[in-house]
Amino acid sequence: MAASAPGKLILFGEHAVVFGEPALSTAINLRAEVFVRPHREWLADGASLDEPRFRYVKKAVEKSNAPGPLWIEIRSMVPSGAGLGSSAAVTVATLGSLHSLAGSIDPPTIAREAFDVEHEVQGRASPIDTSTAAAGGGLLVLRDKQENLLWSIERDSRRWFLHRAVLPPVDFVIGNTGISAATGPLVAKVKERVDRDPGAAAAIREIGEITLDGMRALEQRDLVSVGHLMDRNHALLTELGVGHPALDRLVSAARPSSYGAKLTGAGGGGSMFALTDRPSKTAEAIRAAGGKSFVVQADSRGVAKIG
Ligand code: MEV
Repeated sequence: MAASAPGKLILFGEHAVVFGEPALSTAINLRAEVFVRPHREWLADGASLDEPRFRYVKKAVEKSNAPGPLWIEIRSMVPSGAGLGSSAAVTVATLGSLHSLAGSIDPPTIAREAFDVEHEVQGRASPIDTSTAAAGGGLLVLRDKQENLLWSIERDSRRWFLHRAVLPPVDFVIGNTGISAATGPLVAKVKERVDRDPGAAAAIREIGEITLDGMRALEQRDLVSVGHLMDRNHALLTELGVGHPALDRLVSAARPSSYGAKLTGAGGGGSMFALTDRPSKTAEAIRAAGGKSFVVQADSRGVAKIG
């Protein structure tokens, strides 16, 4: 059995979404594939599931109660530690292949289980990465239920309503700093700041408003406004302490040939992306500033069986 799931790009609202603010993401056409078959012991890529690099896979196995033992093989096109949802894609694809053993794949069930896995491994988290990998396409996370609801997920006193968002077909140019940063500590750092600094709490609320304005601007194909909102979102994330000089370098290099640019995902390194109608020029500028650059598009497919 095998299943695949996409990586993701957060367009607006990372970190703020952990506090229940709105956020907007899209699945991208870089996917993780996970294959499972019966074996005499549990192994992932031929190694023990107890290795730290397999902690998401191990938790997914525990969560799904899959009959084993199984040999699990992971192939991922999503660079890890780059803010592009690699752990979520691998977790969701693992759950997809394990659920396939029992018959069918149900994206809402997988989204909930994958969020539990991520929450247990990462600590504080929102369901944006895992739900985007499960649902595919554009996803708008809101505090309340509106039209186009896909599912809702609760944890402690927070509840996230995940909605389908229809995005214009645009190219996103990604710039990867090559600096890998773990999400858990960055999420914890933002929480600590928000708890002690009212300015940080205000930045989180402003990011929530930017997300809603950004969604409206995207619906109206007003890419100039989308770009300004991206630039402001980047500044607020930097204020919250999740920026990095390498991210600023890539963002500054990309801006002259694009509508806007911002870090994406947890930050602290990882990646930025630019919205542009001159993708080759922007990618070249990012490379000249020392980043690894590639162009991605939205992927409408979420978790899916292979074959
Ligand atoms: C990481 O891709 C997105 C964060 O908002 C964390 C989360 O939502 O769990 C930084």
